Amino acid sequence: MERTLVLVKPDGVQRGMVGEIISRLERRGIKLVALKMMLVDQALAHRHYGEHEGKPFFQGLVDFITSSPLVAMIWEADDVVEIVRGTMGQTNPKNAAPGTIRGDLGVNIGRNLVHGSDSPESAQREVALFFKEGEILDYNRNNDPWITEP
Ligand code: GTP
Ligand code: MG
Repeated sequence: MERTLVLVKPDGVQRGMVGEIISRLERRGIKLVALKMMLVDQALAHRHYGEHEGKPFFQGLVDFITSSPLVAMIWEADDVVEIVRGTMGQTNPKNAAPGTIRGDLGVNIGRNLVHGSDSPESAQREVALFFKEGEILDYNRNNDPWITEP
């Protein structure tokens, strides 16, 4: 089963959007298998956003993501990376479609509320950066056949 890392970034926590964002993901029917609140340190920020090192917004991004607590989660479903990216909307909230998290709740690319892994490969890497295997829970939901055709 595919997994993805989702972060409610510090702006989402500060603005009281944690419940709203989790609720939108829950309502899609995907499965929450890990969740914690944490303060990201410089080292983790650099590893998580390593692909952006050297870009003009990199330092601002690291400063922002380490500035205040965030909520980290793992969600599970077939094609969950694509499903979550769709629910999040485009990177820049200004261009994100209404009905998406970023399109409904944000206006600025540097304050886009949420992170979701951009491929199954990134997801594997990012899940391992944020969670130990023992923090990821394996459980059954008896309504799964009402969400996904078996
Ligand atoms: P994440 O889920 O956060 O990784 O967003 P993304 O995959 O939609 O975008 P990307 O990985 O390309 O960029 C990572 C983060 O860097 C974005 O979420 C933005 O917060 C920030 N970012 C990207 N491009 C810009 C930019 O041009 N200016 C600023 N200020 N921030 C940017
Ligand atoms: Mg990204």
